[in-house]
Amino acid sequence: MRKRVFFGAVATAVAAFCVFFMFRFNLNGKNRPLKTVYKDYFLVGNILSPDMDKSRKFDFTAEQFNVITAENAMKPEALQKEKGVFTFEKADSLVNAVLDSGMVMHGHTLVWRQQTPQWMNFEGISREEAIENLTTHIRSVAGHFKGRVISWDVVNEAVSDNPQNPEDWRGSLSESPWLKAIGPQYIEIAFLAAREADGEARLYYNDYNLDNPKKARAVAAMAAELNEKNPNAGGRPLIDGVGMQGHYRLGTSPENVEKSINLFKSLNIEISVSELDVQAGADGKISESQLAEQGLLYAQLFDVYKKHAPAITRVTFWGLDDGSSWRRDSSPTLFNKDLTPKPAFFAVLDSEKYIKENNVSTLKEVKETQALYGTPAMNAKDVDPLWGESPEIPVNQYLMAWQGAQGTARALWDEKYLYVLITVSNAALNKDAQAPHEHDSVEVFLDEKNDKKSYFEADDRQFRVNFAGEASFNPEEAGAMFESAAWSYENAYTVVMKIPFKFISPKSGTSVGFDAQVNGASKTGGRESVAVWNDLSGESYQNTSGYGVLNLIKRAER
Ligand code: XIL
Repeated sequence: MRKRVFFGAVATAVAAFCVFFMFRFNLNGKNRPLKTVYKDYFLVGNILSPDMDKSRKFDFTAEQFNVITAENAMKPEALQKEKGVFTFEKADSLVNAVLDSGMVMHGHTLVWRQQTPQWMNFEGISREEAIENLTTHIRSVAGHFKGRVISWDVVNEAVSDNPQNPEDWRGSLSESPWLKAIGPQYIEIAFLAAREADGEARLYYNDYNLDNPKKARAVAAMAAELNEKNPNAGGRPLIDGVGMQGHYRLGTSPENVEKSINLFKSLNIEISVSELDVQAGADGKISESQLAEQGLLYAQLFDVYKKHAPAITRVTFWGLDDGSSWRRDSSPTLFNKDLTPKPAFFAVLDSEKYIKENNVSTLKEVKETQALYGTPAMNAKDVDPLWGESPEIPVNQYLMAWQGAQGTARALWDEKYLYVLITVSNAALNKDAQAPHEHDSVEVFLDEKNDKKSYFEADDRQFRVNFAGEASFNPEEAGAMFESAAWSYENAYTVVMKIPFKFISPKSGTSVGFDAQVNGASKTGGRESVAVWNDLSGESYQNTSGYGVLNLIKRAER
């Protein structure tokens, strides 16, 4: 009996081994590895951890990729947790294994606000001591790896999201202990120290959301100014390149990505895509159509990257497979956890073919609904019964993990205005946070021409009203001629908006791009949930391509 179990186990192991090798044969036999496919374009990379040396995943990575970033092993807390005590052993073993296998190494990261020990820049530290800690760390670490890394992320994630006035890059920096202790100059100090310690390594500024045009402009302003000031830092301008992390999701617009690439190209600096992944699905589940859509975005991104290949040094994925990704709940990588390829892998392998075979319009499901003709009373004590004419629009698809406030909308129209009523339930009624989108509030997105662009044009506007009736707008001018009213109850509220049409003269049969959103605050303040009608991209504030469609009609034609 025991013997039989033993032979059963051996047979299973042999079969699994064969399947694995067949699969590898398939990837490397029929399909060339990614590093070969892209050898004339740019380096293609992935991440590794020291505990992965000599593992199956390490070998698999080395077959597909030719450049490695340490996922965590070269961050400040990994290398100098205690002041003056440098712990290079694990990182060294990883770097040496990577170099021994014929790949090259990118260094990540010298300066960051996260994963950095507190002693470096604690509250109340003097500016001099903070500079001393910063430069000592950089000199020691960059000096230690000199000759073994091709490039460094010198400063990571220093610019805030969606800055108001991006040309003022100093004013656009996000709060961080380094900024507090040293001021905006910490960035230049860091780059100078890195150049001094390793004059060969290419030096990068690295950040996420650089597909946001405002954030990209702030980074460009910073790089341009520091390079103008230091045109000859060790023989060349101080900042060699910008790392566009690329933590994207299905709503990310490849056009916005391309615009930022063009912006950075105009500064004559190189670009690396440093941490690419595309979130899709939730709770570790991803549907067939989401898999296809994810593949499509990867393919569109690689089309853009290939087109700009002379300016792009490296494209690195942040995670080998969905089982080990830092965002494993939203299945963002090219491979399943058993290392079988997802549609996204084939999309990257041959983007033109993938795009040809997967038509965009057949993938995206756009919801449509109606607004009936009529002019409701505003600011009345009770909600006008006229609203009952129009169908209910459920605002109940959640964008974030938390399932908080949700609502129901209805819309009416006349020749001058679009009217929207939104009733919200399950709300904490909190507006303590500073940012208005973090209040319990409702939003309406309107694309009057319904031309679904990946960026905001003059006819695209966002209107927000919180439970207390306070309104805010994007862009700010959108507030002109706008009216609203709000009523709140226990854990619930109702908002009515009166939105002037500015670009179209609506008639029965006109269609506008439309979406509605409910922001749910937690009891103690801050946004914890977002529910929408149609656009799950999370990008509605800057990209109208995911909006639903609202058809304006008169009663008889219903
Ligand atoms: C992430 C790692 O993947 C996680 O394992 C770790 O817990 C947190 O950091 N931007 C960066 C990366 O620059 O260093 C981050 O990596 C992901 C976001």
